[in-house]
Amino acid sequence: MLGSAAGGGFPQWNCNCRNCAGWRAGTLKATARTQSSIAVRGAGDHWVLVNASPDVRAQLADCPDLQPRPGGPLRDSRLAGIVLVDGQVDHTTGLYMLREARTPWRVWCTDSAYADLTEGNPVLGLLGHYCGVERRRIEPGREFVVDGVPDLRFHPLAVASKPAPYSPHREHPQPGDNVALVLADAASGRRAVYAPGLGAVDEEMFAAMRAAAVVLIDGTFWSDDEMQRLGASGKRAADMGHLAQSGPGGMLEWLDRLGPDVRKILIHINNTNPILDEESAERAELARRGVEVAHDGMEITL
Ligand code: MLT
Ligand code: MN
Ligand code: ZN
Repeated sequence: MLGSAAGGGFPQWNCNCRNCAGWRAGTLKATARTQSSIAVRGAGDHWVLVNASPDVRAQLADCPDLQPRPGGPLRDSRLAGIVLVDGQVDHTTGLYMLREARTPWRVWCTDSAYADLTEGNPVLGLLGHYCGVERRRIEPGREFVVDGVPDLRFHPLAVASKPAPYSPHREHPQPGDNVALVLADAASGRRAVYAPGLGAVDEEMFAAMRAAAVVLIDGTFWSDDEMQRLGASGKRAADMGHLAQSGPGGMLEWLDRLGPDVRKILIHINNTNPILDEESAERAELARRGVEVAHDGMEITL
């Protein structure tokens, strides 16, 4: 778990909400978090970066397994490729920071994300002036593997969420704007579901969650009107493509239905979410329900 916070991170640079202000004052029992990204390894020594957050430099600096091999070539990376679940700023800005690569990055994304990343936010075109990009297509429903990372299979599912504000279909989301990933260890068959942006749980998604050993799932907001009540935004969680945890039909109800055999971990946590406060009633409720809160540096073995 390279970064467990939503866009903005925790604390957010300009935010005076209870969490951010409390963290700065040292009065809140909580840990700072960087923006949404994971790295995944299969059988070998190579890793796949899933989402490239604006904080990727600090994330790599904190993770010896992802650094150049001691005594290796002058420029060395154990990242074999980059998989993007959408074209949003918090998941793609790190591409700018990775421009020093010696060989073109293999970047996996859907057609929709590719269009946004060559038009509204043309970072992939820009990288052509640096390391270059070898784009690989994600098609929802079609399994893929990343070259050099054996034993790790990616099964993308189209999910209900939102594309970035610079997408021409921000208000009319289309399948492929956002995907969830089922990560499967080919040797054991064990699976993890990774879904940092999930506006609704449909049948296909729930079946994937039930079949997984671990779900890493959208933990952005506790309540649907969290940003509105703070005056931080006019939008509800649902308007932003995120299913809130509490309330009828909320994420916790879905997670309850999975039963105790599935490990449940909330990711992509917004800095306003009360679950970041380790002494909050909301955090205690998660503990009662057997739901974990991801933190940066968390390691999960399937
Ligand atoms: C989101 O997940 O809703 C977006 O990434 C928010 C953002 O970073 O602007
Ligand atoms: Mn996000
Ligand atoms: Zn805040």
